[in-house]
Amino acid sequence: MIVQQLNQRFALPGVLLFERGQGNPPRIHVESETCEAVLYLHGAHLVHWQPRGHHPVIFTSHRSRYAEGHPIRGGVPIVFPWFAQHPSDAAAPMHGLVRQRPWRVERTEARDGVVLVTLAIDLNAQESTAWPFDAALRLIVELGEHLNLTLHVQNRSANAITFESALHTYLAIGDVQQTTVHGLEKTRYIDKVDQFKEKWAGREPATITGETDRVYLDTTAPCHVDDPTLRRRITVSKSGSCSTVLWNPWIEKAARMADFGPDEWKHMLCLETANIGPNAVTLPAGATHAMGCHISVAHMKA
Ligand code: BG6
Repeated sequence: MIVQQLNQRFALPGVLLFERGQGNPPRIHVESETCEAVLYLHGAHLVHWQPRGHHPVIFTSHRSRYAEGHPIRGGVPIVFPWFAQHPSDAAAPMHGLVRQRPWRVERTEARDGVVLVTLAIDLNAQESTAWPFDAALRLIVELGEHLNLTLHVQNRSANAITFESALHTYLAIGDVQQTTVHGLEKTRYIDKVDQFKEKWAGREPATITGETDRVYLDTTAPCHVDDPTLRRRITVSKSGSCSTVLWNPWIEKAARMADFGPDEWKHMLCLETANIGPNAVTLPAGATHAMGCHISVAHMKA
């Protein structure tokens, strides 16, 4: 559907408009009394959310590509039905099948200072040998003073399906080296930068002192990201999710990424709401699973 038709069906005058984004794919622009936001239909990818009175909370790279067949760098990639590399098919895309495809708009609505957008995509068994199942995905995005993202996965296959998923949120950070993450203490994690060893997280909050790529298992508690440089605390709470990913590429990996600025690693931290590895979801035929994250931001006292 072209932008004009999208606006005729789904625009909310004075609050939500469809427009051509960078590289030309359609995107939704929200300006409300509570926030400003930008959401691409390509990958159902939120690239900007800024509640009034705060700096942007979501980081997106200045070097990102915005083209069909390429993921956007930053924002909130939707990862499904596998996380990172496919376990057996090296040619299958990193982080699954839906972040590089256009989603369709199902609904837009504004109420009580919150703009709701529902985007959807269907996967057919014939489309991919890497994951030959039928499933219907729906992402509900609630944009206001807080951000809620909920990914509903309905199994439309005749048998049970198993999948991994993530709401791969890139948080905007003042200085990642000064930042502490509370809420992952006393848990176990897979350390992807140390031969996937399983490690104990210890009693101290997590800090970033080098390349960090961890999958924390069996983690359901809210996390608080304290950023003294921007004098704020970002809180990420979740539901239907038992894994949490903490990722920062640091200097060398950032330099190898064509769609990422050389110094941008200092200003982002991925804290992802996920179900990965032993926390993958098995869903009976016909059933629906919902995974959500709720993000809020508060000024820190001086
Ligand atoms: C993280 C993974 O979730 O995403 C990392 O744990 C990966 O291993 C990162 O490097 C970015 O992935 P991509 O495909 O967007 O470059």
